[in-house]
Amino acid sequence: MTARPQKKQPRKILVTSALPYANGPLHIGHMLEYIQSDIWARFQRLRGHEIYHVCADDAHGTPIMLRARDDGVTPEALIARMEKEHRDDYRDFGISFDNYHSTHSGENRAIAEGIFAALQDGGHIARREIEQSYDAVEKIFLPDRFIKGECPRCGAAEQYGDNCENCGSTYTPAELRNPVSVISGSAPVLKSSEHYFFRLSNFSEFLKEWVGGGHLQEDARNKVSEWFADGLRDWDISRDAPYFGFTIPGESGKYFYVWLDAPIGYMASFKNLCDKKGLDFDEFWRAGSEAELYHFIGKDILYFHALFWPAMLHGANYRKPSALFAHGFLTVDGQKMSKSRGTFIMARTYLNHLAPDYLRYYFAAKLNHRVEDLDLNLEDFVRRVNSDLVGKVVNIASRSAGFVHQNFGGKLGGKLDDETLFTEFTAAAGTVAEHFEQRRYSRAVRVIMDLADRANRYWSAARPWELAGAIGEGEGGGGAREKLLAVCTQSLNMFRILAGFLAPVTPALAQRAGDFLRVNLSAAGGWGDLQTPLLNHGIAPFTPLLARIDHRQVCNIVNDSRDAAAAPGAASGTATTASAHEPLAAAIGMDEFTKVDLRVAHILKAEAVEGADKLLRLTVDLGFETRTVFAGIKSAYAPADLEGRLTVVAANLAPRKMRFGVSEGMVLAAGPGGGDIWLLSADAGAPPGSRVK
Ligand code: 2FM
Ligand code: ZN
Repeated sequence: MTARPQKKQPRKILVTSALPYANGPLHIGHMLEYIQSDIWARFQRLRGHEIYHVCADDAHGTPIMLRARDDGVTPEALIARMEKEHRDDYRDFGISFDNYHSTHSGENRAIAEGIFAALQDGGHIARREIEQSYDAVEKIFLPDRFIKGECPRCGAAEQYGDNCENCGSTYTPAELRNPVSVISGSAPVLKSSEHYFFRLSNFSEFLKEWVGGGHLQEDARNKVSEWFADGLRDWDISRDAPYFGFTIPGESGKYFYVWLDAPIGYMASFKNLCDKKGLDFDEFWRAGSEAELYHFIGKDILYFHALFWPAMLHGANYRKPSALFAHGFLTVDGQKMSKSRGTFIMARTYLNHLAPDYLRYYFAAKLNHRVEDLDLNLEDFVRRVNSDLVGKVVNIASRSAGFVHQNFGGKLGGKLDDETLFTEFTAAAGTVAEHFEQRRYSRAVRVIMDLADRANRYWSAARPWELAGAIGEGEGGGGAREKLLAVCTQSLNMFRILAGFLAPVTPALAQRAGDFLRVNLSAAGGWGDLQTPLLNHGIAPFTPLLARIDHRQVCNIVNDSRDAAAAPGAASGTATTASAHEPLAAAIGMDEFTKVDLRVAHILKAEAVEGADKLLRLTVDLGFETRTVFAGIKSAYAPADLEGRLTVVAANLAPRKMRFGVSEGMVLAAGPGGGDIWLLSADAGAPPGSRVK
């Protein structure tokens, strides 16, 4: 990537992070990106630039529509709930978005319609009939991920329509053997319909120039060159009903494909911010804008951002991104995150056990400017955080604070003990800043930790405990006292610089360190303040700034993640017990509890559900009627073992339409999941229909 041209200060910067889909919770793979972009945005704020970091939920598309249907709610209700969960996760991870919005918003509709109209006027939109896989039972066109079958190469069963998880080959759904729709379980048929296409090839010359213009990392540019070599194909930007999205103007039953309006969501979120704050939207988005625009993205969505997005912006006469910052995937302990190993860790599961700064620090210590995967090695995580943040940084403060409070009334002295050493620290500000600016966070962290080592060596060599012992011992006492104050003043000033340099990475630590030192380490434009030492300055009583991680906390995260993944109730008609590590849900009164009508039910029939990994279809006798209930207990019971057993059913739950049919109740079971899910046995003695009290 070419160097950023020198601009007058302060810069105007708009930063975006990829929009998460509104159909599921955030996991720590998501957090890798948000932490990376948040560090950069926080750093730019510290430098005094006018910077806005915006994001939004990506709320459209088939998976969201189907998930809402499975949950028995409207898509609007689902995306509202997900948005709240996502916002809570971001807040609790210290992600400091200036605005968070949704692609299902008025701003997004207006801008998407405007861009589409401009592309149409420019002759960049084509219409033609195409044939696609169709579920004739559910009357819905099937995205590739909604078709399963046997891999055409290795024959592995239950593979998705686009690639095989067993042998890694990629193919089209038409090549799958014995394909079935994962929605209804029926065999897909081909059906034709008219679609809208974005003529990407109209932008070949523009894109070649743009991609060669220093806006991409080297690895990303190489990848895009391969795509050029393959040829730029038209992009299908419409979807037929049923769909959750924006209707194409002038059409009925045709929608913009989710990926058309997703990146426009960056603009919409910023527009929403502009309207709230009185900012000038055009100053950031008009063609030729001098403001800077950066998109943080994962490497899997490079095609959309490096080809479609700049072409769309160009065709609609908007500015193009200054740069794309793509990162690799997160692995845990050297492997893809895995539910069964407990390494598919949700953001909330992590937060239930550990503070965000630990993970933020670990990611920063390994992140660089390249498109490389990053491994979270759980043992290394504990070791590194404890040794660096707690052992090297926080210790400097805790050791000096006691002496300052015991001997000097909590006030720093009027001079440093070693000005040259202090200058070494302040002189590093430029290097650290340049590493942050260029997203070489691992190098920034290394410089900071080298300084921390330097501060600890200084402390050991100064032997302040001996100086403290000498105070009051006759003649030498005055000298020792003065020296001790200068040593502590020196140490706490070095600590201030370390915590200040780390503020973009560990904002909560910076907050506590700032409270202790009675300074603001995260003030906008405050980076330069670190050049001037704190002298004759009162500090607050010391309270612990950061605890060591106990490796059992990490074990608990893994255990909870494994439990959550194994719990069958999540997307089915079964409720199982929560893990012992999970916090209790909000208390409910007896009046609310008694609204649930729990009945003993006799399982008459249990059948596997075609296309469903976890579900069984149960026919249960409630004594007064027979019901069909879907239960996610396939991991624990073969259908034949269930017939004749008793179970408890929430009998007055409203029927819910699920992908495989309507569930008329919920089976209650206990256990951690997997093979350990327990129903009542046949000899439980209660006749079907009895109330459970
Ligand atoms: O891949 C994803 O998770 C998409 N929701 C990212 C969208 S980023 C932007 F284009 F909106
Ligand atoms: Zn295969």
